[in-house]
Parts: sequence; structure tokens; C-alpha cells
Amino acid sequence: MKQYKEFTVDEKAAFRAAALAAYNGYQAQGLKIDMSRGKPAPVQLDLSGDLFHAVDENNYRSADGTDCRNYGGLLGVEETRALFAEILGVEKKNVIACGNASLTLMFDYVAQCMFDGCGAEPWSRQKDVKFIAVVPGYDRHFTIAQYFGIKLINVPMTPTGPDMDKVEELVKDPTVKGMFCVPKYSNPDGYTYSPETIERLAAMTPAAKDFRVIYDNAYIVHDLYEESDYLPEIFSVAKKYGHEDHFVEFASTSKITLAGAGVACIAASDNNIEMIKKRLTVQVISYDKLNQLRHAKVFKSAADVHARMQQHAAILRPKFEAVLEIMEKELGGLGIAHWTKPRGGYFISLYVDGGSAKRVYELCAQAGLTLTNVGATYPYGVDPDDSNIRIAPSFPTVEELKTCAEILCAAVKVACSENA
Ligand SMILES: Cc1ncc(COP(=O)(O)O)c(C=O)c1O
Repeated sequence: MKQYKEFTVDEKAAFRAAALAAYNGYQAQGLKIDMSRGKPAPVQLDLSGDLFHAVDENNYRSADGTDCRNYGGLLGVEETRALFAEILGVEKKNVIACGNASLTLMFDYVAQCMFDGCGAEPWSRQKDVKFIAVVPGYDRHFTIAQYFGIKLINVPMTPTGPDMDKVEELVKDPTVKGMFCVPKYSNPDGYTYSPETIERLAAMTPAAKDFRVIYDNAYIVHDLYEESDYLPEIFSVAKKYGHEDHFVEFASTSKITLAGAGVACIAASDNNIEMIKKRLTVQVISYDKLNQLRHAKVFKSAADVHARMQQHAAILRPKFEAVLEIMEKELGGLGIAHWTKPRGGYFISLYVDGGSAKRVYELCAQAGLTLTNVGATYPYGVDPDDSNIRIAPSFPTVEELKTCAEILCAAVKVACSENA
């Protein structure tokens, strides 16, 4: 197939006319579709109906007899901790089960490093504090860092994880204190770090003694296909180098059960668990143990979680495939855009090669399709190439998604034809 850049003047004119006709056709329909955030669809939330009946006024004790209605049990319900430990491949003593959002836990952990430190002077008392931002990445990681005045330095994501040559270079600077990582089915590319990347992350010896990787394993069990991407367990690799304190891991059931009413956890080394525990004793008496108990009653083991995730995959897979199929049909071979083909997670990344992502966003908005803000996947909202568009296929129906993908492709073509 001939690439757009090889088109003759007449071919380009015909391409533009066809793209505009398609685009105008969608615009005339007065659509209103929101594809901006990775929210589970209502049918996915319906899968967790069992949670509503898992505990009641006669059934509120955990296996060790704890009355989950009351205060106490700072580290969480034992069987819920055990469930997370099994999912993450770590020991139960290294897991704390908490409230509903891992994002809060990450915020709190960074706050702890700011005001209490993590093995050195609190970050807030150090002159310059920087974090590596793997880009494109999860907007809310960046906004946490920005909230605390942590300066972000972009490092590009690759299909095997962050560009580790750049990471290893940057951590020679003692003011570089950490990084956020989404190691499996990353947001927004859907890439999984390779074993080599994990080995290099675990092996590196940053100049900062208080360096921390905020290891956000949000999509650890979120496979779209039967075969899961392989991700080595980080603490067992880090242990070989004596670096287990460098990593603090986070996960949640937000996209396993109920996005607004799940359970989140922290997994960390013995040293870090001690430091986190010290802070938690000030912050909270105990988290919502009834909700933790509900989850432990519904999921007796990681196998039960995987079975639930297969039900999610049956809903999500056709959505991802519908978008990918339309992008391939409409944009494949033209050399004007490329995109990722994730095997799990919640997002697809579209890259508009000509650097007109903002224009595509605007065209989509005018046709009634709301996308994630362009730039949101980069610190300070600035995509230096104006290229990345995060596609979130989970919430709309398959039929709506087909329309979304067609509008998006028409917008990419229109934007491209405006450039040259
Ligand atoms: C990478 C990543 N981490 C964390 C979250 C939010 O997780 P939680 O609901 O546990 O706060 C999301 C949600 O989209 C995400 O994509």
C-alpha cells in the first residue's frame, strides 16, 4: 500500500475530500460519546453483585475471629492480605490491605517521603527533588509529583519498558529520588516490562540513598487473552542486589471488582513496611475491614480472581479488538499514525505521526467524541511531539466504540491532510 507521503497532489486532494466527507457525516449525527477515562463499564461492575451479599449483620468476622465492624487491625484483614500476597507473589507479612484507592496510598507514600523521609533527610528539606517520568504515562502519577513540587524528567517508554540507558544515566544524579512505574500493561501503551528491564531496574544503584520506585502494579491480573504477559516478581529480583527497599508496590481491586469501592494494598520490604506502619498509626485507626472481608469471602484465592478477570476479558476483548480492527482498516499502511496492540490493561495508545494530536482531539470534540485530554499523558500536560492520544475502550459499548474509532480515524486523516 502506498504511504500518504508518497501520494501525488491529486491523490492527496482526493484523500482529503473523502476524509472530510466521512468526518462531516459523523459530525452531522450530533453524537455524544465519552472515551476519556478508563472506567469499567456497568456490565463489568455487575460481575461483582456477589460482593453486596458477602457480609451481613450475622457475618462480619474474619477467619481469626476479628469483628470487622470495629476499630483495630491496622494492617488489614489477614485473609485479604493473604489474597493480595498470593496475587503479587510476595509474603503476607510484606502486605498491608488498606482502603479503596491505590492512588491515595501512592499520594500518602510520597507525602511520607516528603515530610518524614525514607532513610535520609525528608525530601521537603532537600533542595532539589526530581522524579523520572516514564512517558507517555498515567496523568495522576504526574499530578501527585507536581502537587509536591517534585520536578519531573521525561524518559521515553519503549515496548520493553522505560529506556533503561536513560534511567541509569539519570539516577547518577543524587537529586533524582524516584520514579513511577506501571510494569504490566502500562497506562497508556499497554506495554509490559521485559525481564531484562526488571533486572536492570532492580540492579541499579542510584546516587540517592533514598531512591524509591513507586511500583504501581495496577494491571497485574488484567489480561485480555488467556496467556498473560510475563512479569518477574520485583522483590525477589531486587533481593539479589540487596535493593528491595528501593521498591514500594501498589495494587487494588478497582478494576477487579468495583472501581469506586474496591480494596487497595501496599507491598514493601520489611524496612519499608515498618516505616509505613509508623506513619499509618498516626493517620488511621483501621481501614474499612468489612470491605476487605467482603473481598476475601468472594475470592478465596488468586485462582478465583483470575476466573473473575476472564469474565472481564470477555467483555473488554471485543472492545479492544473493534477499535484495533477499525484503526488497521482506516489507517494501516498510510504512515500517518501508529498504535499499540495491548494484551491487557485498559488503554490503547495512538500516536499521530505528524504531530497533530491536539487538532485530532479538537476535531473529535466537535464531532461529539470526548477523548482523554491530549498532553495529559505527559508531565505538565505537554506532549513535546503533540503525538499521543490515549484511547480508553472500556466504558462505551462495542457499537459506540466502532463509531468512536471511525470518528477518530476520520479526524486523524483530516488533521493529516491539513498539514501537507
Ligand atoms: C496505572 C494506574 N494506577 C492506578 C489507577 C487508579 O487505581 P485506584 O482505583 O486503585 O486508585 C489507575 C486507574 O486508571 C491506573 O491506570
